[in-house]
Amino acid sequence: MIVKIFDDERQASHAAYKIVRQAHENGAKVFGWATGATPELLYEELVNSDIDFSDSISVNLDEYFGLDEQHDQSYHAYMEEHLFDEKPFKASYLPHGDNMDVDDEIARYNQILEDNPVDLQILGIGRNGHIGFNEPGSNFNTRTQLVDLTETTIEDNQRFFEDKSEVPTKAYSMGIQSIMEAKAILLLAFGKGKAEAVKAMIEGPVTENLPASILQKHPRVMIILDKAAASLLQTKSTEPEANRA
Ligand code: GLP
Repeated sequence: MIVKIFDDERQASHAAYKIVRQAHENGAKVFGWATGATPELLYEELVNSDIDFSDSISVNLDEYFGLDEQHDQSYHAYMEEHLFDEKPFKASYLPHGDNMDVDDEIARYNQILEDNPVDLQILGIGRNGHIGFNEPGSNFNTRTQLVDLTETTIEDNQRFFEDKSEVPTKAYSMGIQSIMEAKAILLLAFGKGKAEAVKAMIEGPVTENLPASILQKHPRVMIILDKAAASLLQTKSTEPEANRA
């Protein structure tokens, strides 16, 4: 695991942007995207860049179960708004949240992942250490699955909906095994609210109770943090000034 700490979210997101850019220049074809507030500045930089993704494929981590793509809080809608409208891909895949045939949707998405092995996977992290929507207790040996969201996650996501009763309680998510099959992984975490999960992910034991801890076993992972998210870490490696441009 390489851990880099930046003064603030903007500098950290710029570093993430440079890594995505470099990967694209080096021939990466399949990009795994995450949603949430964390990657928004990264997407903003990608949108404002001259990178051409029209020959690239994108696959997303997850989608709320029960929401169709048109729903304004679906992850489909998020991706259109933050990236795809401005930067179209040759193909962009997300789970179909409105496919009520769970076995069919799982098989469909697993096939997509098998046909399009991810070169670079972007991840955020939940306050409880989830990645994608793989909540604490998720088996490490899973591919796409339908998950029950925990109360913490439902509370965290409530801010995007008018009422708590509207927040979906289930989601389709790439499993931990699928995430671990990405050739390289870039995880971003910002803010004090993520500090405990970040510490457990990097310095704690590898355990299914903290899904992100499995990343300690991946050969190519970079963790990009702002100071607040890194505040509880014992070992702090800061990014040298010279590398920030
Ligand atoms: C959701 C998403 C995750 C994301 C997490 C953190 O649960 N499924 O992919 O990493 O939230 O979101 P945020 O970046 O808004 O803190």
